[in-house]
Amino acid sequence: MIMKINNKNNPVIVERSNALSGSIDTPSDKSISHRALILGSLCIGETKIHNLLLSEDITSTICALEQFGASINMGEEQNITNIYGIGIGGLLQPSKKIYLGNSGTSVRLLIGLMSSCDVCVEFEGDESLSKRPMGRVLDPLKEIGLEILSNEKENLPLKLKGTALPVPINHKLVVPSAQIKSALMLAALNIRGRSTIIETIKTRDHTEKLFEYFGADIQTSLNDLGQKEIMISGQKKLSPREIDIPGDPSSAAFFIVAGLISKGSKLRIKNVMINPTRSLFIDYLISMGAKIDFLDKYSKCGEEVVDIDVTASELKGVTTSLNDAPSIIDEFLILSVAAAYAKGESKFCGVSELKVKESDRLEAIINMLTASGVKCETKDDDLIIYGNGEVPGGSDIKSNYDHRVAMSALILGLGSKSQIRIDDVSPIATSFPNFMEIYHKVGGNFHSG
Ligand code: S3P
Repeated sequence: MIMKINNKNNPVIVERSNALSGSIDTPSDKSISHRALILGSLCIGETKIHNLLLSEDITSTICALEQFGASINMGEEQNITNIYGIGIGGLLQPSKKIYLGNSGTSVRLLIGLMSSCDVCVEFEGDESLSKRPMGRVLDPLKEIGLEILSNEKENLPLKLKGTALPVPINHKLVVPSAQIKSALMLAALNIRGRSTIIETIKTRDHTEKLFEYFGADIQTSLNDLGQKEIMISGQKKLSPREIDIPGDPSSAAFFIVAGLISKGSKLRIKNVMINPTRSLFIDYLISMGAKIDFLDKYSKCGEEVVDIDVTASELKGVTTSLNDAPSIIDEFLILSVAAAYAKGESKFCGVSELKVKESDRLEAIINMLTASGVKCETKDDDLIIYGNGEVPGGSDIKSNYDHRVAMSALILGLGSKSQIRIDDVSPIATSFPNFMEIYHKVGGNFHSG
Protein backbone atom coordinates (compact mmCIF):
# COMPACT_ATOMS: atom_id res chain seq x y z
CA MET A 1 0.00 0.00 0.00
CA ILE A 2 1.41 3.40 -0.94
CA MET A 3 0.25 6.20 1.29
CA LYS A 4 0.29 9.92 0.70
CA ILE A 5 1.87 11.53 3.69
CA ASN A 6 1.20 15.19 3.25
CA ASN A 7 -2.24 15.17 4.87
CA LYS A 8 -2.40 16.07 8.51
CA ASN A 9 -2.89 13.32 11.11
CA ASN A 10 -1.94 10.26 9.24
CA PRO A 11 -1.73 7.35 11.74
CA VAL A 12 0.11 4.15 10.84
CA ILE A 13 0.49 0.70 12.45
CA VAL A 14 3.72 -1.22 11.79
CA GLU A 15 3.99 -5.01 12.18
CA ARG A 16 7.19 -7.05 12.28
CA SER A 17 8.46 -7.38 8.70
CA ASN A 18 10.17 -10.19 6.84
CA ALA A 19 13.70 -9.61 5.53
CA LEU A 20 14.00 -6.27 3.73
CA SER A 21 15.62 -6.13 0.31
CA GLY A 22 16.17 -3.79 -2.61
CA SER A 23 17.92 -0.63 -3.58
CA ILE A 24 17.18 2.86 -2.32
CA ASP A 25 17.98 6.28 -3.78
CA THR A 26 18.82 8.63 -0.92
CA PRO A 27 16.95 11.96 -1.12
CA SER A 28 19.11 15.06 -1.55
CA ASP A 29 20.73 16.68 1.43
CA LYS A 30 18.51 19.13 3.27
CA SER A 31 21.29 21.27 4.77
CA ILE A 32 23.03 21.75 1.42
CA SER A 33 19.72 22.40 -0.37
CA HIS A 34 18.88 25.32 1.98
CA ARG A 35 22.36 26.79 1.62
CA ALA A 36 22.56 26.41 -2.17
CA LEU A 37 19.24 28.24 -2.52
CA ILE A 38 20.35 31.06 -0.24
CA LEU A 39 23.75 31.54 -1.88
CA GLY A 40 22.29 31.28 -5.39
CA SER A 41 19.85 34.04 -4.37
CA LEU A 42 22.79 36.29 -3.44
CA CYS A 43 24.44 36.05 -6.89
CA ILE A 44 23.74 38.26 -9.87
CA GLY A 45 23.15 35.90 -12.79
CA GLU A 46 21.89 32.33 -13.08
CA THR A 47 22.66 29.60 -10.55
CA LYS A 48 21.61 26.10 -11.53
CA ILE A 49 20.88 23.49 -8.85
CA HIS A 50 20.60 19.84 -9.85
CA ASN A 51 18.65 17.53 -7.53
CA LEU A 52 17.40 20.08 -5.03
CA LEU A 53 15.54 18.31 -2.19
CA LEU A 54 11.82 18.74 -2.83
CA SER A 55 10.41 18.80 0.69
CA GLU A 56 8.29 21.10 2.86
CA ASP A 57 11.28 22.66 4.69
CA ILE A 58 12.94 23.51 1.38
CA THR A 59 9.71 25.00 0.04
CA SER A 60 9.71 27.29 3.09
CA THR A 61 13.18 28.58 2.21
CA ILE A 62 12.22 29.07 -1.46
CA CYS A 63 9.08 31.08 -0.59
CA ALA A 64 11.06 33.31 1.78
CA LEU A 65 13.82 33.98 -0.77
CA GLU A 66 11.19 34.88 -3.37
CA GLN A 67 9.80 37.43 -0.93
CA PHE A 68 13.31 38.89 -0.66
CA GLY A 69 13.31 39.33 -4.46
CA ALA A 70 15.03 36.20 -5.83
CA SER A 71 13.50 34.46 -8.83
CA ILE A 72 13.49 30.67 -8.36
CA ASN A 73 12.15 28.36 -11.06
CA MET A 74 11.82 24.62 -10.60
CA GLY A 75 12.26 22.67 -13.84
CA GLU A 76 9.59 19.98 -14.37
CA GLU A 77 12.10 17.42 -15.57
CA GLN A 78 15.51 16.26 -14.35
CA ASN A 79 15.02 18.25 -11.18
CA ILE A 80 16.91 21.37 -12.21
CA THR A 81 16.24 24.60 -10.31
CA ASN A 82 17.29 27.95 -11.78
CA ILE A 83 17.86 30.93 -9.55
CA TYR A 84 18.27 34.55 -10.61
CA GLY A 85 19.61 36.29 -7.53
CA ILE A 86 19.55 39.80 -6.13
CA GLY A 87 23.20 40.27 -5.14
CA ILE A 88 24.81 40.59 -1.72
CA GLY A 89 22.87 43.13 0.33
CA GLY A 90 20.18 43.36 -2.35
CA LEU A 91 17.35 41.96 -0.23
CA LEU A 92 14.01 43.63 -0.99
CA GLN A 93 11.60 44.58 1.77
CA PRO A 94 9.09 41.65 1.99
CA SER A 95 5.50 42.82 1.51
CA LYS A 96 4.05 40.28 3.98
CA LYS A 97 5.01 38.04 6.91
CA ILE A 98 7.43 35.20 6.15
CA TYR A 99 6.03 31.81 7.24
CA LEU A 100 8.65 29.07 7.62
CA GLY A 101 6.53 26.10 8.68
CA ASN A 102 8.57 23.57 10.68
CA SER A 103 12.00 24.60 9.43
CA GLY A 104 14.53 25.69 12.06
CA THR A 105 17.34 25.87 9.51
CA SER A 106 15.32 28.25 7.30
CA VAL A 107 14.49 30.67 10.07
CA ARG A 108 17.92 30.77 11.72
CA LEU A 109 19.84 31.15 8.45
CA LEU A 110 17.45 33.78 7.13
CA ILE A 111 17.58 35.81 10.35
CA GLY A 112 21.35 35.89 9.84
CA LEU A 113 20.94 36.91 6.20
CA MET A 114 18.51 39.80 6.83
CA SER A 115 20.28 41.08 9.95
CA SER A 116 22.93 42.98 7.96
CA CYS A 117 20.46 44.41 5.40
CA ASP A 118 18.12 47.38 5.59
CA VAL A 119 14.86 45.38 5.83
CA CYS A 120 12.20 44.76 8.44
CA VAL A 121 10.86 41.20 8.55
CA GLU A 122 8.15 39.36 10.48
CA PHE A 123 8.96 35.66 10.80
CA GLU A 124 6.35 33.03 11.74
CA GLY A 125 6.35 29.24 12.01
CA ASP A 126 4.22 26.26 12.96
CA GLU A 127 3.53 25.20 16.56
CA SER A 128 6.79 23.24 16.85
CA LEU A 129 9.00 25.99 15.34
CA SER A 130 7.32 28.62 17.53
CA LYS A 131 8.62 26.82 20.63
CA ARG A 132 12.25 26.66 19.50
CA PRO A 133 14.88 29.01 20.93
CA MET A 134 15.95 31.89 18.68
CA GLY A 135 17.94 33.82 21.31
CA ARG A 136 21.01 31.83 20.30
CA VAL A 137 21.05 33.61 16.92
CA LEU A 138 19.47 36.90 18.00
CA ASP A 139 21.96 37.66 20.78
CA PRO A 140 25.15 37.70 18.68
CA LEU A 141 23.33 39.49 15.85
CA LYS A 142 22.09 42.23 18.19
CA GLU A 143 25.77 43.12 18.58
CA ILE A 144 26.05 43.97 14.88
CA GLY A 145 22.90 46.11 14.99
CA LEU A 146 19.88 43.79 14.58
CA GLU A 147 16.81 45.16 16.40
CA ILE A 148 13.96 43.10 17.81
CA LEU A 149 10.75 45.05 17.33
CA SER A 150 8.37 42.45 18.79
CA ASN A 151 8.09 41.92 22.54
CA GLU A 152 11.39 40.95 24.15
CA LYS A 153 11.20 37.16 23.83
CA GLU A 154 13.16 34.59 21.96
CA ASN A 155 10.49 32.63 20.08
CA LEU A 156 8.57 33.11 16.84
CA PRO A 157 6.61 35.08 15.83
CA LEU A 158 9.35 37.73 15.70
CA LYS A 159 9.49 41.14 14.05
CA LEU A 160 13.10 42.05 13.27
CA LYS A 161 14.82 45.07 11.79
CA GLY A 162 18.16 44.58 10.07
CA THR A 163 20.76 47.30 9.95
CA ALA A 164 22.15 49.22 6.98
CA LEU A 165 25.38 49.86 8.92
CA PRO A 166 26.37 46.53 10.50
CA VAL A 167 29.60 46.29 12.49
CA PRO A 168 31.92 43.31 11.91
CA ILE A 169 31.28 40.15 13.92
CA ASN A 170 33.75 38.87 16.47
CA HIS A 171 32.11 35.90 18.09
CA LYS A 172 33.05 32.60 19.73
CA LEU A 173 30.17 30.12 19.48
CA VAL A 174 28.76 29.17 22.87
CA VAL A 175 26.42 26.46 21.57
CA PRO A 176 28.05 24.15 19.00
CA SER A 177 25.49 24.67 16.23
CA ALA A 178 25.89 24.83 12.46
CA GLN A 179 22.73 26.91 12.24
CA ILE A 180 24.14 29.64 14.51
CA LYS A 181 27.53 29.53 12.77
CA SER A 182 25.83 29.79 9.36
CA ALA A 183 23.53 32.64 10.47
CA LEU A 184 26.60 34.65 11.51
CA MET A 185 28.46 33.77 8.31
CA LEU A 186 25.52 34.87 6.17
CA ALA A 187 25.30 38.14 8.11
CA ALA A 188 29.06 38.65 7.54
CA LEU A 189 28.62 38.49 3.76
CA ASN A 190 27.12 42.00 3.79
CA ILE A 191 29.35 43.51 6.48
CA ARG A 192 32.13 45.83 5.36
CA GLY A 193 35.41 44.72 6.95
CA ARG A 194 36.49 41.40 8.41
CA SER A 195 34.27 39.26 10.65
CA THR A 196 35.64 36.40 12.74
CA ILE A 197 33.66 33.43 14.06
CA ILE A 198 35.33 30.85 16.30
CA GLU A 199 34.03 27.32 16.60
CA THR A 200 35.24 25.29 19.58
CA ILE A 201 33.46 22.01 18.78
CA LYS A 202 33.14 20.82 15.20
CA THR A 203 29.75 21.15 13.47
CA ARG A 204 28.72 20.48 9.87
CA ASP A 205 30.84 22.55 7.47
CA HIS A 206 28.63 22.91 4.39
CA THR A 207 28.39 26.71 4.67
CA GLU A 208 32.18 27.08 4.69
CA LYS A 209 32.52 24.81 1.64
CA LEU A 210 29.77 26.55 -0.29
CA PHE A 211 31.10 30.04 0.54
CA GLU A 212 34.37 28.98 -1.10
CA TYR A 213 32.56 27.46 -4.07
CA PHE A 214 30.51 30.63 -4.67
CA GLY A 215 33.64 32.81 -4.40
CA ALA A 216 33.13 34.52 -1.00
CA ASP A 217 36.21 35.99 0.68
CA ILE A 218 36.54 33.34 3.41
CA GLN A 219 39.55 31.89 5.20
CA THR A 220 39.52 29.14 7.79
CA SER A 221 42.35 28.09 10.08
CA LEU A 222 42.97 26.40 13.42
CA ASN A 223 44.09 28.67 16.28
CA ASP A 224 46.61 27.75 19.01
CA LEU A 225 43.84 26.06 21.01
CA GLY A 226 42.88 23.88 18.04
CA GLN A 227 39.64 25.84 17.51
CA LYS A 228 38.41 26.65 14.02
CA GLU A 229 38.55 30.34 13.08
CA ILE A 230 36.42 31.48 10.18
CA MET A 231 37.28 34.89 8.73
CA ILE A 232 35.01 36.54 6.20
CA SER A 233 35.56 39.87 4.47
CA GLY A 234 32.13 41.06 3.44
CA GLN A 235 30.59 42.90 0.50
CA LYS A 236 32.43 40.83 -2.07
CA LYS A 237 30.37 39.69 -5.07
CA LEU A 238 29.51 35.98 -5.29
CA SER A 239 29.69 34.13 -8.62
CA PRO A 240 26.66 32.17 -9.84
CA ARG A 241 27.43 28.44 -10.01
CA GLU A 242 26.11 25.06 -11.09
CA ILE A 243 25.71 22.63 -8.24
CA ASP A 244 24.58 19.00 -7.82
CA ILE A 245 23.26 18.14 -4.34
CA PRO A 246 24.46 14.82 -2.87
CA GLY A 247 22.26 12.41 -0.88
CA ASP A 248 21.41 13.20 2.75
CA PRO A 249 23.19 10.87 5.20
CA SER A 250 20.67 11.78 7.90
CA SER A 251 17.86 10.42 5.70
CA ALA A 252 19.89 7.37 4.60
CA ALA A 253 20.45 6.59 8.31
CA PHE A 254 16.86 5.34 8.72
CA PHE A 255 17.19 2.67 6.05
CA ILE A 256 20.74 1.79 7.09
CA VAL A 257 19.42 0.92 10.57
CA ALA A 258 16.32 -0.76 9.04
CA GLY A 259 18.61 -3.12 7.09
CA LEU A 260 20.67 -3.88 10.20
CA ILE A 261 17.85 -4.74 12.60
CA SER A 262 15.45 -6.68 10.34
CA LYS A 263 16.66 -10.28 10.29
CA GLY A 264 17.94 -11.58 6.94
CA SER A 265 17.83 -8.15 5.29
CA LYS A 266 20.13 -6.87 2.58
CA LEU A 267 19.74 -3.31 1.29
CA ARG A 268 21.72 -1.17 -1.11
CA ILE A 269 21.54 2.51 -0.24
CA LYS A 270 22.77 4.74 -3.02
CA ASN A 271 24.18 8.27 -3.10
CA VAL A 272 25.09 8.74 0.58
CA MET A 273 27.26 11.81 1.30
CA ILE A 274 30.07 10.89 3.69
CA ASN A 275 31.26 14.32 4.84
CA PRO A 276 33.03 13.57 8.16
CA THR A 277 30.90 16.16 10.01
CA ARG A 278 27.78 14.19 9.00
CA SER A 279 28.60 10.51 8.61
CA LEU A 280 30.10 9.67 12.01
CA PHE A 281 27.00 7.66 12.87
CA ILE A 282 28.13 5.11 10.28
CA ASP A 283 31.45 4.70 12.11
CA TYR A 284 29.56 4.19 15.36
CA LEU A 285 27.27 1.60 13.74
CA ILE A 286 30.32 -0.25 12.41
CA SER A 287 31.81 -0.27 15.92
CA MET A 288 28.51 -1.82 17.09
CA GLY A 289 29.13 -4.72 14.69
CA ALA A 290 27.14 -3.47 11.68
CA LYS A 291 27.97 -5.09 8.37
CA ILE A 292 28.26 -2.03 6.15
CA ASP A 293 30.23 -2.14 2.91
CA PHE A 294 31.21 0.94 0.95
CA LEU A 295 31.09 0.54 -2.81
CA ASP A 296 32.83 2.95 -5.20
CA LYS A 297 33.28 6.48 -3.93
CA TYR A 298 32.63 9.46 -6.16
CA SER A 299 32.46 13.21 -5.71
CA LYS A 300 29.49 15.60 -5.95
CA CYS A 301 29.71 19.33 -5.22
CA GLY A 302 33.02 18.87 -3.38
CA GLU A 303 31.57 16.14 -1.14
CA GLU A 304 32.45 12.44 -1.17
CA VAL A 305 29.50 10.19 -1.94
CA VAL A 306 29.19 6.37 -1.75
CA ASP A 307 26.74 3.59 -2.39
CA ILE A 308 26.42 1.40 0.69
CA ASP A 309 25.48 -2.27 1.16
CA VAL A 310 23.88 -3.06 4.51
CA THR A 311 23.42 -6.62 5.80
CA ALA A 312 21.38 -7.53 8.89
CA SER A 313 23.76 -7.80 11.84
CA GLU A 314 23.97 -8.73 15.51
CA LEU A 315 24.70 -5.41 17.19
CA LYS A 316 26.40 -4.64 20.49
CA GLY A 317 26.22 -1.48 22.65
CA VAL A 318 28.31 1.62 21.96
CA THR A 319 29.45 4.79 23.73
CA THR A 320 29.44 8.02 21.69
CA SER A 321 31.79 10.83 22.73
CA LEU A 322 30.79 14.30 23.91
CA ASN A 323 32.66 16.13 21.15
CA ASP A 324 30.98 14.02 18.47
CA ALA A 325 27.46 14.96 19.66
CA PRO A 326 26.98 17.88 17.18
CA SER A 327 28.10 15.66 14.27
CA ILE A 328 25.50 12.96 15.10
CA ILE A 329 22.82 15.26 16.50
CA ASP A 330 20.25 14.33 13.83
CA GLU A 331 21.05 10.60 14.14
CA PHE A 332 20.67 10.09 17.90
CA LEU A 333 17.04 9.09 17.42
CA ILE A 334 17.76 6.36 14.89
CA LEU A 335 20.94 5.34 16.76
CA SER A 336 18.70 4.82 19.80
CA VAL A 337 16.69 2.34 17.69
CA ALA A 338 19.93 0.50 16.80
CA ALA A 339 20.91 0.54 20.50
CA ALA A 340 17.50 -0.91 21.45
CA TYR A 341 18.15 -3.92 19.17
CA ALA A 342 21.78 -4.25 20.29
CA LYS A 343 22.94 -6.50 23.12
CA GLY A 344 24.42 -4.50 25.99
CA GLU A 345 24.53 -0.97 27.28
CA SER A 346 24.83 2.05 24.98
CA LYS A 347 25.72 5.49 26.27
CA PHE A 348 25.20 8.67 24.23
CA CYS A 349 27.16 11.54 25.81
CA GLY A 350 26.13 15.21 25.71
CA VAL A 351 22.59 14.90 24.41
CA SER A 352 20.91 17.99 25.93
CA GLU A 353 20.63 19.78 22.54
CA LEU A 354 18.10 17.09 21.61
CA LYS A 355 15.60 18.89 23.86
CA VAL A 356 15.36 21.87 21.48
CA LYS A 357 14.93 20.13 18.14
CA GLU A 358 11.64 19.86 16.15
CA SER A 359 10.35 18.30 19.39
CA ASP A 360 12.04 17.38 22.68
CA ARG A 361 13.84 14.41 21.15
CA LEU A 362 15.38 13.26 24.41
CA GLU A 363 11.91 12.86 25.87
CA ALA A 364 10.77 11.31 22.56
CA ILE A 365 13.49 8.62 22.73
CA ILE A 366 12.71 7.82 26.37
CA ASN A 367 8.95 7.65 25.71
CA MET A 368 9.34 5.58 22.53
CA LEU A 369 11.75 3.03 24.00
CA THR A 370 10.13 2.76 27.43
CA ALA A 371 6.65 2.28 25.92
CA SER A 372 8.14 -0.40 23.62
CA GLY A 373 9.66 -2.33 26.55
CA VAL A 374 13.29 -1.15 26.28
CA LYS A 375 14.93 0.14 29.45
CA CYS A 376 16.67 3.50 29.19
CA GLU A 377 17.44 6.51 31.38
CA THR A 378 19.24 9.85 31.42
CA LYS A 379 22.17 10.52 33.74
CA ASP A 380 23.32 14.16 33.79
CA ASP A 381 23.75 15.04 30.12
CA ASP A 382 23.95 11.44 28.90
CA LEU A 383 21.41 8.93 27.65
CA ILE A 384 21.81 5.25 28.52
CA ILE A 385 19.98 2.49 26.69
CA TYR A 386 20.02 -1.09 27.99
CA GLY A 387 19.55 -3.26 24.89
CA ASN A 388 18.97 -7.00 25.10
CA GLY A 389 18.73 -7.77 21.39
CA GLU A 390 14.90 -7.72 21.29
CA VAL A 391 12.19 -5.07 21.31
CA PRO A 392 8.79 -6.13 22.71
CA GLY A 393 6.82 -3.26 21.04
CA GLY A 394 3.07 -2.95 21.69
CA SER A 395 3.36 0.84 21.94
CA ASP A 396 1.54 3.91 20.70
CA ILE A 397 4.04 6.65 19.73
CA LYS A 398 3.31 10.35 19.23
CA SER A 399 5.40 11.98 16.52
CA ASN A 400 4.85 15.52 17.93
CA TYR A 401 5.33 17.34 14.57
CA ASP A 402 8.78 15.74 14.33
CA HIS A 403 9.76 13.96 11.09
CA ARG A 404 12.67 12.07 12.65
CA VAL A 405 10.56 10.79 15.56
CA ALA A 406 7.99 9.42 13.09
CA MET A 407 10.64 7.73 10.91
CA SER A 408 12.50 6.27 13.92
CA ALA A 409 9.30 4.76 15.32
CA LEU A 410 8.51 3.26 11.90
CA ILE A 411 11.95 1.59 11.86
CA LEU A 412 11.64 0.45 15.50
CA GLY A 413 8.43 -1.39 14.57
CA LEU A 414 10.07 -3.37 11.75
CA GLY A 415 11.57 -5.87 14.19
CA SER A 416 9.43 -5.57 17.33
CA LYS A 417 7.46 -8.56 18.63
CA SER A 418 4.15 -6.69 18.80
CA GLN A 419 2.96 -3.92 16.54
CA ILE A 420 3.82 -0.25 17.03
CA ARG A 421 1.36 2.54 16.23
CA ILE A 422 2.51 6.03 15.23
CA ASP A 423 -0.18 8.69 15.62
CA ASP A 424 0.89 10.84 12.67
CA VAL A 425 3.48 10.27 9.95
CA SER A 426 2.67 13.46 7.99
CA PRO A 427 5.66 15.42 9.45
CA ILE A 428 7.96 13.15 7.40
CA ALA A 429 7.18 15.38 4.40
CA THR A 430 9.44 18.08 5.86
CA SER A 431 12.58 16.11 4.92
CA PHE A 432 11.81 12.79 3.17
CA PRO A 433 8.54 12.97 1.19
CA ASN A 434 8.80 9.51 -0.43
CA PHE A 435 9.82 7.70 2.78
CA MET A 436 6.62 5.59 3.03
CA GLU A 437 6.87 4.63 -0.64
CA ILE A 438 10.43 3.34 -0.14
CA TYR A 439 9.49 1.70 3.18
CA HIS A 440 6.78 -0.21 1.33
CA LYS A 441 9.07 -1.04 -1.63
CA VAL A 442 11.77 -2.67 0.53
CA GLY A 443 9.23 -4.75 2.46
CA GLY A 444 8.08 -2.67 5.45
CA ASN A 445 4.83 -4.13 6.80
CA PHE A 446 2.33 -1.41 7.70
CA HIS A 447 -1.23 -0.23 7.33
CA SER A 448 -3.28 2.85 8.20
CA GLY A 449 -4.09 2.94 11.87
C1 S3P B 1 21.44 21.95 10.66
C2 S3P B 1 22.11 21.98 11.85
C3 S3P B 1 21.70 21.20 13.02
C4 S3P B 1 20.75 20.08 12.64
C5 S3P B 1 19.67 20.53 11.69
C6 S3P B 1 20.26 21.08 10.41
C7 S3P B 1 21.93 22.78 9.54
O1 S3P B 1 21.03 22.06 13.93
O2 S3P B 1 20.18 19.52 13.80
O3 S3P B 1 18.82 19.45 11.36
O4 S3P B 1 21.54 22.56 8.37
O5 S3P B 1 22.73 23.68 9.82
P1 S3P B 1 21.83 22.88 15.07
O6 S3P B 1 22.66 23.89 14.39
O7 S3P B 1 20.75 23.50 15.91
O8 S3P B 1 22.63 21.86 15.82
